[in-house]
Amino acid sequence: MAFRTLDTVDVAGKRVLVRADLNVPVHDGKISDMTRIERLSPTIRELSEKGAKVIVCSHFDRPKGKRVASMSLAPMAAALEKILGRRVRFFEDCVGVAAEQAAELLAPGDVLVRENTRFHAGEETNDPAFAAALARLGDIFVNDAFSAAHRAHASTEGVAHLLPAYAGRLMQAELEALHAALGNPARPVAAIVGGAKVSTKLELLGNLVGKVDVLSLGGAMANTFLAAQGKGVGKSLQEADMHGTALDILSRAHVAGCRILLPADAVVARDFKPNPPTEIVSVDAIPADTMMLDIGPESVAALIRQLPAWKTLVWNGPLGAFETPPFDAATVALAHAVADATRTAGLRSVAGGGDTVSALRQAGGIDQLSYVSSAGGAFLEWLEGKTLPGVAALEC
Ligand code: 3PG
Ligand code: MG
Repeated sequence: MAFRTLDTVDVAGKRVLVRADLNVPVHDGKISDMTRIERLSPTIRELSEKGAKVIVCSHFDRPKGKRVASMSLAPMAAALEKILGRRVRFFEDCVGVAAEQAAELLAPGDVLVRENTRFHAGEETNDPAFAAALARLGDIFVNDAFSAAHRAHASTEGVAHLLPAYAGRLMQAELEALHAALGNPARPVAAIVGGAKVSTKLELLGNLVGKVDVLSLGGAMANTFLAAQGKGVGKSLQEADMHGTALDILSRAHVAGCRILLPADAVVARDFKPNPPTEIVSVDAIPADTMMLDIGPESVAALIRQLPAWKTLVWNGPLGAFETPPFDAATVALAHAVADATRTAGLRSVAGGGDTVSALRQAGGIDQLSYVSSAGGAFLEWLEGKTLPGVAALEC
């Protein structure tokens, strides 16, 4: 796809409306992970240094069209100020006459964050009047919120049709990395998909079998495939109503020439709690009173042995119950091996999706992958092969 970037626009003296994704994790009123703000900052800094009047808008959480004090973007504005090392103003509404007047007062280089777009019902309904009100705040629109691009909302989609629209640097990096991974990848290309449920990743698996040469499954999702093949999975988490679907995916993979890798061994326990007694068993001999909580050492070693043969890898979802030790072992071992192969063997590695990023951060080596997406749901929808409305609106 073709989209305009910041290389092709003169922003000096212009009001630039930037759609950011400041929807960051907050615990006990404190931002617990600055990643999205850090990754937004180059776009804001560049615009500011080029003399734009930068007006940032974003959603946070799901206030459902009402003003909810605990869902204010004021703390995110303060965090952005710290990261940029320059003053960031805040204005308590994202549209309206007062908001427009506040924009008039900006000098070239100034940065202003506006309050949560979702305080207005028109944001999520993509109301043309609300989109027009947003558009009145800018001369041009820059979308840097790939992670919100799966939403066809006024600030992600509607406004992009009302102003000259450009991809910000983070949006550009996401699109370039994803295109290199599945759009036109160096082959062989492999995907590793973990996580709990087949049902939430059905469309993603269906899309991937037509695109990748190897699809490796882990996490509780793999249990469903093993059970569908008639193996006893004991008390393991699995979806009995998805067996037909799992078999269908296997046969579609066969037709498409996509090799499916399922674990051959598993780490099992009788209780799901930190550090219980565990056993390593073949997937053909899962004791009836145990559950599989991680793929086994043989399976992860087999996966790691294949890495040098792959040119491109897309990774979504942990291989085991990584939040509970020791069931993070396979995910950690794989993360380190992927980081090594990226550094030393020219593997292009792209990872994304909410859980995946926290698992990789926990494992270490996340910075050594070729690209880690800042997106959760948007990354999954992209893996499903869907058109993301916020991206489509940038196409030229
Ligand atoms: C996300 O974190 O996935 C995006 O910011 C979108 O948020 P949403 O799921 O509330 O639309
Ligand atoms: Mg989401």
